[in-house]
Amino acid sequence: MPALPVLPAADDAALREACAALDAGRLVVVPTETVYGLAADARNAEAVARIYAAKGRPSHNPLIVHVADLDAAEQVAVFDERARRLAATFWPGPLTLVLPLRPDAGLAPAVTAGLQTVAVRVPDQPDLLGLLRRFVGPLAAPSANRSGRLSPTRAADAAADLDHPEALPHVACVLDGGPCARGLESTIVGLTDATPRLLRPGALEPARIEALVGPLAAPDAAAGVVAPGMLLRHYAPGLPLRLDVEVPLPFEAYLAFGPEAVEGAFCNLSPNGDVAEAARRLFAALRDADDPTRFRGIAVAPLPPAGVGLALHDRLRRAAASSRDPDAVRVVVFDLGGVVVQIARTWAERCAAAGLPVRDGADGDAALAACAAEIDAVQRGTATTRAVAEALHAALRGAYTVDELERLYESQVTGPYPGVAALTTRLRCPHAILSNTSAGHWPGLCATEVVRSAVARFASFELGLLKPERAIFDHVAGALGEAPGHLLLIEDSAPNAAAAAAAGWQVECVDPFGDVAAQLEERFAARGLLRG
Ligand code: TXA
Ligand code: MG
Repeated sequence: MPALPVLPAADDAALREACAALDAGRLVVVPTETVYGLAADARNAEAVARIYAAKGRPSHNPLIVHVADLDAAEQVAVFDERARRLAATFWPGPLTLVLPLRPDAGLAPAVTAGLQTVAVRVPDQPDLLGLLRRFVGPLAAPSANRSGRLSPTRAADAAADLDHPEALPHVACVLDGGPCARGLESTIVGLTDATPRLLRPGALEPARIEALVGPLAAPDAAAGVVAPGMLLRHYAPGLPLRLDVEVPLPFEAYLAFGPEAVEGAFCNLSPNGDVAEAARRLFAALRDADDPTRFRGIAVAPLPPAGVGLALHDRLRRAAASSRDPDAVRVVVFDLGGVVVQIARTWAERCAAAGLPVRDGADGDAALAACAAEIDAVQRGTATTRAVAEALHAALRGAYTVDELERLYESQVTGPYPGVAALTTRLRCPHAILSNTSAGHWPGLCATEVVRSAVARFASFELGLLKPERAIFDHVAGALGEAPGHLLLIEDSAPNAAAAAAAGWQVECVDPFGDVAAQLEERFAARGLLRG
């Protein structure tokens, strides 16, 4: 099937074509000042049914009726004095009013999902107003995304979403009016009883509405008001989303905000720190960043919770919440530096057999301490494993040959546990590397600045072993901006595992002498953390 035709909304011939399609009961994607809408003749039951089919939308979720002006709105809804005041002030504009449905409105019942109330608004987009005047009828139009996706704020996004076998046969064309001026859906206010209610925060700030009709109450759950736009799964990118992030993880697309430059940021929602500009760009940025071939997650900078920022927070919270269970793991942190434990134990056995003095503890051996600097130099890439092997050979007074030591060192200290790096590519959530030993040696992975700073501040780096201190884990959790309970530490050393658990982290301790990748695969699978 051919893809959807995208026509310039300002073009008269395009408007004529759109009108004819609407008359024939087909669907047209229309620009509004908020987000793109998927419009149908609201009086035509078959046309309205096509909206639900094309969106894959549950039929209990009613649609917004778009009209050219207040007069047209009064033909479908019962206006009281408050409603007229709001309409006079904010229409055309990003305010939707939920009002009692007029019995003679003539709307297809599916528009209101059988409710006795109707959502209505006059959009502030010149081409769409032109279409409404020409069509002379109410247009039912939800956002032009497939259900569960982000609302489209560019014509191409709507066209891409609706390039779907259930949508294509029903949609005649996309009218391209350029990027939406607001980029965030309309604010929905319910005026069906004595208490005005904020049913959905949106592009119009509630304070401006409250100035005219008094305080806005929350939706009345007991009254069974259906506003499934408030459903948790409503707005969601495919990749995991983290909010209020100051320092992104490697392989997260970072949506920055404000004048401070963040190296490697995917984009800046508003370099001037203008929250309205951020709102305008947010959905498009989330769509662009939602690319699993480039990123493993999306991180958004803290946004000021003022003005339209409140509605932004609302959308982002829903998107983040819907991408995972609130108690689930959000970041996996690997501390698999304990391979050194393994090599040290082998060394200790060989040294004991050779009659050399061996002290207790994996990291305590004086021979190892003697070449700590060389080991560190290899890990920093400034020396060769041969140099370390030679130093160890001398320190161990010949218990090993240089070749043996080099092989041992190559395979265990500078290399990761086999298979673990491959496993990380299947993780559903982002990950960080805490141990210097594995950092830099796992292809495509590196220690984050967060972790570097934690190590610098709290850990003494000795032969790849971090000192087991709670402070390290508190610092990493703080810098990642995550509650400790959302962090899963993968640990091969028991003292570190205990310190992390004391800091409130989830911990999986693996046996460094067994097949670490196999152990991890089983634990990740049990936690539902693996793709595919
Ligand atoms: O900015 C917007 O409002 C965009 C553009 C296209 O106008 N439209 C939009 O429509 O966001 P949609 O369908 O994605 O969201 C409409 C919301 C839904 O949450 C629906 O539950 C609510 O409006 N709604 C519609 N009729 C209602 C009613 N009678 N009572 C309560 N909520 C209603
Ligand atoms: Mg929607």
